[in-house]
Amino acid sequence: MADSLCQQLGVDYPIIQAPMVGVSTPALAAAVSNAGALGSIGLGASTPEQGRAAIRQTRALTDKPFNVNLFCHQPATFDHARNDAWLRHVAPLFAQFDATAPTALNEIYKSFQDDPAMLDMLLEEKPAVVSFHFGVPSTDWVGRFKQAGIFTLGCATTLAEAQLLEQAGVQAIVAQGQEAGGHRGVFDDRPGQDAQIGLFALVRLIASGVQVPVIAAGGIMDGAGIKAAWQLGASGVQMGTAFILCPESAASAEHRTALNSARAYDTRLTSAISGRSARGLANRLYLEASQPQMPLPAEYPLAYDVAKALHTAASAKGCHDFAAQWAGQGAPLARALPAAELVRVLVEEMRGRI
Ligand SMILES: Cc1cc2nc3c(=O)[nH]c(=O)nc-3n(C[C@H](O)[C@H](O)[C@H](O)COP(=O)(O)O)c2cc1C
Repeated sequence: MADSLCQQLGVDYPIIQAPMVGVSTPALAAAVSNAGALGSIGLGASTPEQGRAAIRQTRALTDKPFNVNLFCHQPATFDHARNDAWLRHVAPLFAQFDATAPTALNEIYKSFQDDPAMLDMLLEEKPAVVSFHFGVPSTDWVGRFKQAGIFTLGCATTLAEAQLLEQAGVQAIVAQGQEAGGHRGVFDDRPGQDAQIGLFALVRLIASGVQVPVIAAGGIMDGAGIKAAWQLGASGVQMGTAFILCPESAASAEHRTALNSARAYDTRLTSAISGRSARGLANRLYLEASQPQMPLPAEYPLAYDVAKALHTAASAKGCHDFAAQWAGQGAPLARALPAAELVRVLVEEMRGRI
């Protein structure tokens, strides 16, 4: 199964470095791809022109296949009652840093579902692989990638989501367990809709319910984790947190220090940072979020606009307590190795040689 996925992706090893907006870089993706695994860049926060530049930068560093990731969320509805309540809730936090909360919220990430210019750019640039998070584009768009010879991956957190991806023609499923760092790929982000299934059960559920290959994601940090995913029926793995400490990543010095500290043992899910549930190192926003009187966070990605403004205001006063430091439950196992060396070690571990 792993061999067939490797053939489909054009790689030597069934290991995907996860796309991580803000953390993955062309240099990281290229180093991973040059080492025989599949590197990824994240275009979820990019315009088509920024995306084209990132693809070309990656191409300048590798002639191997790499993956380009897109956010397919439902666009914000601008529910003013909900969003204003959230702004009132965070205003005192801004005041602590002599700042004022924004009064208007911006949709900082455009959904790929609403971005035909991004589709056109990708069909021109033709990266080897394209992946979807938070949803699935139309069958027509997925078909156009296939016609262009671009292999498609889609993230699922339930069997039902995996089946929607398969029905739309997506060629492999990234099964994301609730252990995973970063945003949960759930399609429906309304409160109470996330089943939070762990990777063990999820891989079994999806592998027995779809025909396409399954790629396991969430808490996989080493060769033992990769082998366990195979045992469960996965054809490959997608690993994010394991690559954060690579020198080629864009992770901030504070993110790296936190990952190397006891804080790495405390990852939690919250929607208080971006408006969608995501796992990261617990910080003051997580503590705020656990207060019983907390209103529903503003919609995704409007809440993220607020959290980024709060982080800017706080860090200007030397406080880094509000940074979004995404990480999965395996965070304490992350290793600070150059990406090519990390891929080499993972392959040796998965072959049982070390
Ligand atoms: C810092 C960080 C940023 C992430 N950003 C993205 C992203 O932009 N797009 C995406 O599809 N997944 C993103 N993810 C989730 C990964 O695709 C993957 O599901 C996750 O990293 C797997 O769990 P692990 O971190 O325990 O390996 C991110 C994960 C992390 C840790």
